[in-house]
This record gives sequence, structure tokens and C-alpha cells, in this order.
Amino acid sequence: MHIVLASSECVPFAKTGGLADVVGALGPELVKLGHEVTVYLPLYAKVRPHLDGQNEWTYAVRSITIPFESYNRFVGIVDGGKRDGVQFYFVDCPELFDRQELYGTRTGDYPDNAERFGLFCRAVLEATKQLGVPQVFHVHDWQAAPVAIYLRTVYADDPVLRGARVVLTIHNAGYQGKFPPVTTERLLLPWDVFTMDKVEQFDNFNFLKGGLVYSDILTTVSRKYAQEIQTAEFGEGLDSVLRGRAADLRGILNGVDYEKWDPATDGNLAAHYTPEDLTGKQACRADLLHAFGLENVAATTPVIGIVSRFATQKGFDLVEEIAAKLSDREVAVVALGTGEPVYEKFFRDWAFWHKANVAVQVRYDDALAHKIEAGSDMFLMPSKYEPCGLNQIYSLKYGTVPVVRATGGLDDTIEEWNSEKRTGTGFKFYGYEAKDFLAAIDRALAAFEDKAGWTQLMVNGMTRNYSWEQPAREYAAVYEEVVRR
Ligand code: ADP
Ligand code: GLC
Repeated sequence: MHIVLASSECVPFAKTGGLADVVGALGPELVKLGHEVTVYLPLYAKVRPHLDGQNEWTYAVRSITIPFESYNRFVGIVDGGKRDGVQFYFVDCPELFDRQELYGTRTGDYPDNAERFGLFCRAVLEATKQLGVPQVFHVHDWQAAPVAIYLRTVYADDPVLRGARVVLTIHNAGYQGKFPPVTTERLLLPWDVFTMDKVEQFDNFNFLKGGLVYSDILTTVSRKYAQEIQTAEFGEGLDSVLRGRAADLRGILNGVDYEKWDPATDGNLAAHYTPEDLTGKQACRADLLHAFGLENVAATTPVIGIVSRFATQKGFDLVEEIAAKLSDREVAVVALGTGEPVYEKFFRDWAFWHKANVAVQVRYDDALAHKIEAGSDMFLMPSKYEPCGLNQIYSLKYGTVPVVRATGGLDDTIEEWNSEKRTGTGFKFYGYEAKDFLAAIDRALAAFEDKAGWTQLMVNGMTRNYSWEQPAREYAAVYEEVVRR
């Protein structure tokens, strides 16, 4: 079967979070199952260095006209070639995509995001008419949701496109792409889409809602989150739409790419280690503490790691609430992240006042993220909500014990440690309460004292398998189901 993955992110080209990892890993895994896979991405400034190896870019399509209300834009489709069997095409429209960031700057989202991603989606549809219409468009998050909206409206009668099916994956219902009503005519969509049963949501044009309404099947990235988003607490205003589509909504837990995330082979680490021989983890710990200027931390002190977008979703207000108590305990804390200024400031202040055992680096640094996974003893993810979460799965593989809030994929992937039965992989808390979070960390710190037990706990996590094989089969089954309809 031919599948087009349309996404705003994909490793190694453009990444702000887990979406990029997922799209980057799913494609090759589907190819292994015998499918033909094409990925379409916007040609951001960040993509350019990956193409500059080619002296002259190869255009698969020289010029596609994308009409807007009172003007046209002209886009090219750059052929990125094949990687791991997956064909890459980049939508080239420098006025909209040749910018430093993907979605916006520190001062806010780019004001023309509706136009940017509307154009991206329409260009993908147009490009496939020349390069190959797939049986299934698998679109990701609000940025690619207009593929479904256009396909079932403007292109509803197009003889080559109308038979294609659309699967939409919700990676995060907290980001919906909300724009003013006039977006309807700016994107040259008929006004009858702007109703509450279609794209309108509280007087906004809502890209994600349009995707939910117009796609044939919906998926999200864990079973628990598939349930949660049908409730008012997690649905971000879209729960009733999602309940209405419950029969078409599937939860498929993300896998992770063990070619990139495995302490036995990871090129970013000071040493390698395996469940059978953990000695290399000590060298990784020393290397990590050095990278954070915490060389003086005692050898017996547990190291607690954090790697995250600094967003409200991730539960940093809970970290802030427990910070003073945590840094007074016998621990070292290393954090890597960027995002909302309030949390960047909180971490900087925390590190400033506790130089001996708390350190933060405010930036995006993939190699350092790997070092944290390897060199830490514990990893914190107290998320308010978490559709899947990849870092806790990386932590398991690296023998770094996750302490998580039991929500979404965190609940589906982490099992509470039972010191008597010696089962489980981490520590969980349920209510969104600082005291419960601190209690979970304290259970972890107590368990850390029992060396044999702790080693068993590490090995339990390291030997779990969250590779892409199973989820890719589940996606393939969804594609087959939707094509049969
Ligand atoms: P989300 O997609 O909500 O941000 P995930 O846990 O699914 O959460 O994925 C986050 C991904 O982004 C992981 O691969 C993680 O290592 C990476 N990441 C997040 N922040 C940083 C950072 N500051 N530096 C390096 N990698 C980061
Ligand atoms: C989103 C979610 C995260 C998930 C990722 C990949 O960004 O916040 O939980 O792991 O997408 O699906």
C-alpha cells in the first residue's frame, strides 16, 4: 500500500518534540512491512543544511500554484531522495517557511500560521496528483489536519484524489491551530465548513477539529490518552467531538527508535552498557556531572534528570512547588529544556541558589539529552497530561528509573515498583498534587538505598521492548481497515 505521511516535523530535518521522532521512525518501519511510504515536510530554514549536500536541489515539481483569496503563491516540491526506503519531499515556499523556527519565536506564534500550514496541506494534495496519490494520507496534528478538510471539500470531486482515505493522529490535543473565522475564505474554503459540527469551535476556525470531523479514522498515541481525550478534563474542548467519533478512534502506543536510543550503541555517550553489564553507566554519570559542572557530587548521591519542553503540560509547576524540599535532600538534579519563560526562570533561579546540586541548561541539545538519559539514576515526568511521552521510554532503556504522573502514555508504559515481588519499572503518582509527586520521589530514593533491588528495577526497564515493530503493524492494520471501508 502507498502511504503519505504529512507532518510539520520529522527527524533529522525538523524537530521540536516527540512528533518528529515518531514520524521519523514510523516511515522506515512501514517500509519493512512492505509498504511504500512518502513523507512530506515544509522546507524550513532548518531543513536547508540537510539538502545543501546536493549542489543543485532537485525539484520533483517545479511550480504548483496555490490560490488564496486575492493572490497566488507558487511552491516547488524538492526531492529529498530516499532514506531507509522512505521517499522525502519538501514543500518549498521561502516566504512562508524559510524562517529560523518552525512555529514562532519567543514573542509568539508566527501570525500567518494558518496560511503556512493551509498552504502546506494544499501543496501536499496537489503534489501527490503529479507524484503519486496514496491509498492513505496519514496526517499528524493540527498542522497537517487541513489535508482532510481540503480533501473532503475543495477536492471532493477530484477524480484522482477523492478515493484516498485520511487517518489523523492526535499527538497532542492541547495544540489545535485556532484562527479567526476569516481564515475560511482566506484558505478558499466554502463558508459552509464554518459551523459547529465542522471546523468552528467557539467562533474560531479550528484546524484540529476540522481534522477530527473530516478524517476517516482517528488515532492517538496511547490507549489511556484515547480514553482521556473523550473527557472534559483532557479533551481541551474537543471531548464531545471525540466522543461522537469514539467508534473511529484508536489508541496506538508510540514506539521508540532503538537505533538512536540504546546505551549499548549510543554514540553520544562516554561509555556503553547493557542489562548484563552496567559498569559503563558510571562513566556516563561522571561525564554528565562534568557537563553540568557538578563534579563534586558524591559518588553515592542519586542523580535526577529532566529533559523537556518547558511547557505547562509537563507539570513544572509541581516541580517548582517541591523544588526547595527536593534540593535539600541528598540528590543532584540536572535539567535540560527550553520553552515558557516562567519555567526557564524558575530553573535558572533554582540552580543559582543550589549550585552544589542543581544545574540547568536552557537550550535544545540532542547529544546532551542522550547523556542525561544515560548518566542519571532517575528521570522526572510529572506531566499534567501526556499523550504518550518518549523520554520515559528512553529512560527505561537506559536504566534510568522514571518517576511519573499516571496520565496518558506515562500510565501505559510505567509500572510501579514492587520491592517484594521485584516487579515494576518505576514510580507513579495519581493526583496532580505536589505532595504526591514528592512522595513518589521519596519512594524512589528509598528504593535506591537497596542496591540489589535497584539493579533489578533498572534491568526490568531495560529489558522491556518498545520498538516500532508492534505499533507499525497496528498502523498498517488501521490503513487496511480504512481502505476496506
Ligand atoms: P513532547 O513531544 O510533548 O515534547 P515527548 O516525550 O514525546 O514529548 O518527546 C520529546 C522529545 O524531544 C524527546 O526526544 C526529547 O529528548 C526531546 N527534547 C525535548 N526538549 C529537548 C531539549 N531541550 N534538548 C534536546 N532534546 C529535547
Ligand atoms: C506530543 C506529546 C507527547 C508524544 C509526542 C509524540 O508532542 O506531547 O506525549 O509522545 O507527541 O507522539
